[in-house]
Amino acid sequence: MRNVTPDNITDTFLSYFGDDTDPRLLEIMTSLVRHLHQFARETELTHDEWNKGLELLRWAGDVTDDERNEFVLLSDVLGLSSLIDMIHSSEQGTSSSVLGPFHISNPPAKDNGADLSGEHKGETILVTGQVKDPDGHPIADATIDIWQTAPNGLYSSQDPEQDTYSFHALFTSDENGHYRFTTVRPVSYTVPTDGPVGTLLDATGRHPWRPSHLHYIVKAEGYKTLVTEVFPDDDPYLDEDTVFGVRSDLVMSYQPQSADSFPAEGYELSGKVSSDYSRVDFDLILARDSD
Ligand code: BEZ
Ligand code: FE
Repeated sequence: MRNVTPDNITDTFLSYFGDDTDPRLLEIMTSLVRHLHQFARETELTHDEWNKGLELLRWAGDVTDDERNEFVLLSDVLGLSSLIDMIHSSEQGTSSSVLGPFHISNPPAKDNGADLSGEHKGETILVTGQVKDPDGHPIADATIDIWQTAPNGLYSSQDPEQDTYSFHALFTSDENGHYRFTTVRPVSYTVPTDGPVGTLLDATGRHPWRPSHLHYIVKAEGYKTLVTEVFPDDDPYLDEDTVFGVRSDLVMSYQPQSADSFPAEGYELSGKVSSDYSRVDFDLILARDSD
């Protein structure tokens, strides 16, 4: 094209693809550049604004390392991570939700009934549930990887005061698909705000809070892996999660219980609970691999 114009630049770009371009890459790049060009035309993007955007991405690169990925966080607060999640979430099972950056590989295996709180103080919650297939049949031997913040709102990887695997554990469902454990009630917390994402949230009048949650990764042979979270129904940020992770089937009531109702056996804390606690039942329905 000898005379590139705002009207023909998109088609000109598309004509430059080589014949042996991978078809999926061709589809993605075609759509991406169509929307990108249309975005610039529609907003009449100025040089200054374009530079600010690139500066934000450069800053994201600067603060990204093995421990922190600001690009993922940017995708999270723009709703892109959750949208991709929902597009690929199976209708057969429990909704998926964002993984977030704080999962740790190889969490310590724990027996059902174990307690995650260690020395940390907070309201005890007793979490139980059943892993099931879409027809309601129990799935035995599913692994249930759990992680959460400490009562100070920090994950172990953010907090030098915590052990590496603090509030991380791997459970296995029993022959009836059940799992159970105790922990302290997680708290609402903010996503990291000391980088470009924080600046963007601030500039657009948004807060950085997530409603409190427990993270789950559930795996069983023959089923799709489920990455999800469970939220209490009384959290003030439930309707305004900054990373758009809340789905109605993931919101559970944390039922208050008196201390003397704590099970006398079957839990690491049996016989040791002297304060009222809450109970949450969260069943996990796994979609079949073939669906
Ligand atoms: C999290 O829930 O751990 C999380 C998710 C997205 C961004 C930051 C944190
Ligand atoms: Fe989280």
